Amino acid sequence: MTTAPEHPSGETRLRTAITALLVTLLVLLGVSVTAFLLLPSGEDQDVRAQIGGPFTLTAHTGETVTDQTYNDKLKLIFFGFTYCPDVCPISLSTMTRTMEMLGDEAERVQPLFITIDPERDTAEALAQYVTHFHPSLVALTGSQEAIADVAQSYFVGYTKVYDESATDYLMDHSVLVYLMSEDNDYLAHFNHQTSPEEVASTIREHL
Ligand code: NI
Repeated sequence: MTTAPEHPSGETRLRTAITALLVTLLVLLGVSVTAFLLLPSGEDQDVRAQIGGPFTLTAHTGETVTDQTYNDKLKLIFFGFTYCPDVCPISLSTMTRTMEMLGDEAERVQPLFITIDPERDTAEALAQYVTHFHPSLVALTGSQEAIADVAQSYFVGYTKVYDESATDYLMDHSVLVYLMSEDNDYLAHFNHQTSPEEVASTIREHL
């Protein structure tokens, strides 16, 4: 016997080990891999055509907002929570910078922040939070059920992670930003590492 037949299994083991290491690193970084697994980088139009769905939520202003409220605008939609220490502020800052870069064209884009922590993110809490970002940003909350429904329709996963004292928690959540059309069709998605220049450029392709 030569050692040749062992090569494939050796490579497989190595690949498995590398994959496990990458997943562990992502989890340690607090980055959910859920949406990445659901949204492969290839041209999976079947999955993308399913993204989005109807919703009725409450804005930080107290007004009711549905998926039809901004039907004359593109939507930039991000799911997160106000207690998030890292990814959410980065993504919302990128959305803010993107809106600034769009100039007059920003009037045709509606940025939306949908909380996946409605227990703490009341309309009042969101009203305070949005002041850190672009003035056109609308933050949305709702019942646990309404939030679960809209998150699922956008393939957004989230789960509570308690700290050691079991009294406080963070939310582990998918971190994609979606660009949706006037009619709520999927156009593109970004993550917290996409630059505002790239987001603005992609938006301009669809305006
Ligand atoms: Ni976050």
